[in-house]
Amino acid sequence: MSAATADPYGVFGHPVGHSLSPFIHGMFARETGQYMSYRLFDVAPAELTERVQQFFAEGGRGLNITLPHKVAAVELAHELTGRAAHAAAVNTLALTDKGVLGDNTDGAGLVRDLCDNLGLVITRRRLLILGAGGATRGILAPLLELEPLTVLIANRTPERAEALAAAFSDLGVTQGVAFEQVGDEPFDLIINATSASLSGEIPPIPAAACGAQTVCYDLAYGRAATSFVKWARRQGCARALQGLGMLVEQAAESFHLWRGMRPETSFVLAALKERAGGGG
Ligand code: ATR
Repeated sequence: MSAATADPYGVFGHPVGHSLSPFIHGMFARETGQYMSYRLFDVAPAELTERVQQFFAEGGRGLNITLPHKVAAVELAHELTGRAAHAAAVNTLALTDKGVLGDNTDGAGLVRDLCDNLGLVITRRRLLILGAGGATRGILAPLLELEPLTVLIANRTPERAEALAAAFSDLGVTQGVAFEQVGDEPFDLIINATSASLSGEIPPIPAAACGAQTVCYDLAYGRAATSFVKWARRQGCARALQGLGMLVEQAAESFHLWRGMRPETSFVLAALKERAGGGG
């Protein structure tokens, strides 16, 4: 009798060496007793289609898709979930009996972190989202579902913010503006969805947008505080948070799609925070 092989999973990105996903899914698999492997695959954009097809042809069961492939992966799915179609981006592929299903778990992961882990209320609150790229597109529908009073999208290129707000206007109250048009009333929640943090920059957010009751959340995360989190602390906000919780929660959503069960996330988040705290 030959031993069964572990079900193959992994993440495709470029670069991907820094990814925490193998650690996260490894912990989920141990905790739930699932026999699965999870590997990193550094895949250049030109090879994406062929490598995805090869992965599934060779028995692969599911993939996470990370930068820069999330938009291109839409074309590789035979079917999309509603939330992936809204996001126009895919971060999870799953083999089903109908073919390869494309999903996007980023927005749901953010909402779970905000509401379940951090205990925030979004309903009837004023939200400001910084940035109007793919990251914003991915989180808008799940946030609007919670019926905030308003979602203001501020972007360096205001036309992109206006276009995004218009595209989601059927789901709730959204408006796109330039940073200098954000106004001087503090928001309940400011989410940084620009890629500025990655280069240590901060978008030119008017200081008045952030008051003593404002919660600031950076979708980016790092071993040290991101530049946006440092900015938020300097403004004297109520809480300044990084996106590690969203990372773990989007992974749990992917795991649920693949294995039909929801892992407990609190141990994994605690382990990651310890790792980050212990690092240089
Ligand atoms: P992603 O998929 O990560 O959202 P993207 O689609 O390239 O990537 O979008 C990046 C976002 O970060 C955009 O909103 C971009 O602003 P522009 O639309 O004006 O380009 C924003 N961004 C990047 N660097 C920035 C910076 N230094 N200051 C302010 N905004 C920045």
